[in-house]
Amino acid sequence: MVELLPSILSADFAHLADEVAAAERGGGTVIHVDVMDGHFVPNITLGPPVVKSLRRVTGLPLDCHLMIENADEFIPAFADAGANWVSVHYEACRHLHRSLELIAHHGMEPAVVINPATRVDLLRDILPMVHHVLVMSVNPGFGGQKFIEFSLDKIRRLAELRQELGLAFKIEVDGGVAHDTVARVVQAGADLLVAGNAVFGAGHPEQDARALLTAAREAAGQ
Ligand code: DX5
Ligand code: ZN
Repeated sequence: MVELLPSILSADFAHLADEVAAAERGGGTVIHVDVMDGHFVPNITLGPPVVKSLRRVTGLPLDCHLMIENADEFIPAFADAGANWVSVHYEACRHLHRSLELIAHHGMEPAVVINPATRVDLLRDILPMVHHVLVMSVNPGFGGQKFIEFSLDKIRRLAELRQELGLAFKIEVDGGVAHDTVARVVQAGADLLVAGNAVFGAGHPEQDARALLTAAREAAGQ
């Protein structure tokens, strides 16, 4: 089943608990949390203290997308805060294998993220280690950007590799997932759909999450 992961980047941070609850009522099954350091990406967001607060107000898994340069230093703090899934960027990790092992060692699901300019095939050797691969369909740093079309080829290539290698990792897509793109994203083979602006941007997260998930499941024939 295709799942919707509301990204709180576009939520009202003064009312996070309400925003998350509304997105959950609308069908969101995992909460996507964007962590930015102002170095790897040109923006700053939040860290373990906010994850800890979110942990108290939702039972949904927290998917922490680390857009930071020194991820290894912070992995224990995310585990203590209650993160469930942690993804690190291929482009930001000098020792990606070590970072993925560290995440798993702390009892969380490890994942790798690739920027639009990074080739899927570079991941081949570490695919058996990951819970999911996150394909960025915009350059990371900001919500509400335009979907980059060639991301669809990358999703298809990953689905092909998964089959070829007999693996079961999920394919997650992040950036510009909205009404005009969601059908093609799902048909290319994505399982986990991150959406920030499309869920929280208009101020009706419950309705907008529901409408997006319905469109995704229809496109997937579910
Ligand atoms: C961007 C973040 C995304 C962001 C997506 O760097 O990783 O999770 O929230 O936003 P939308 O869905 O608005 O493109
Ligand atoms: Zn993200």
